[in-house]
Amino acid sequence: MRIVLLGPPGAGKGTQAKLICETYNIPHISTGDLFRENMSKDTPLGKKAKDYMAKGLLVPDELVVDMVADRLTQADVAAAGRGFLLDGFPRTVVQAEALEKISAKNDLELDFAVNLEVPLDVLVERISGRRICPTCAATYHVKYNQPKDEGVCDLDGASLYQRDDDKVETVQKRIEVYQEQTEPLIAFYKEKKKIVDINGLQNMDDVFDDIKRVLDGAN
Ligand code: AP5
Ligand code: ZN
Repeated sequence: MRIVLLGPPGAGKGTQAKLICETYNIPHISTGDLFRENMSKDTPLGKKAKDYMAKGLLVPDELVVDMVADRLTQADVAAAGRGFLLDGFPRTVVQAEALEKISAKNDLELDFAVNLEVPLDVLVERISGRRICPTCAATYHVKYNQPKDEGVCDLDGASLYQRDDDKVETVQKRIEVYQEQTEPLIAFYKEKKKIVDINGLQNMDDVFDDIKRVLDGAN
């Protein structure tokens, strides 16, 4: 199964990606997570991405495309029957066209572009309430997905933190950037008959049930 997950910041891509990848046993490739990992290790790529991310802007296409091309040729993708889920990529038409080329070259044609639809006014609340575990990267929400003990990860007891780019001003910028640069991808994948629209405003389990119904229908 080869999937790209589309949707504005805070639509629930990371949340659903985790459920999809566990259920279908495919690698979860999140470009945002890859950049955050590079930043925490202070790699040259992390240093280049840092300022763009802090401002809520996209990292330049060529940096992202090279990183993804490299990731898609790693062993776990092959082990999953050339399966993967891309979360947060592509994000521009240039990236989507580059992915078409990478896919054609490596026999990795996409099955679905799953588009999580959430009205823009809900996103700020979702993102500003998000809390993350520094140890295992589990994602919580202060209202919609609370840990058992406030501020503490259920899985390992670590203290939860808030992402730097989750401040309200930066979130607004990320939403604008989504509308300008990423939303056109819905039409791009509609034309290729790959798009599946999912109502992302439901609770997390119901969103996943809808996605699962589509993916299972394809088997
Ligand atoms: P990235 O890390 O990809 O962030 P994003 O797209 O802004 O998405 P988020 O992680 O904010 O949200 P999400 O949709 O995963 O939502 P989540 O499941 O956590 O990118 C960050 C930055 O990296 C970019 O700004 C850019 O600079 C750079 N970058 C990354 N990829 C790039 C690319 N391809 N090109 C260029 N630059 C790139 O959910 C949000 C919250 O809501 C959580 O607290 C969750 O618990 C809660 N929630 C989830 N689902 C529900 C639900 N159904 N009901 C209620 N609450 C819910
Ligand atoms: Zn944890």
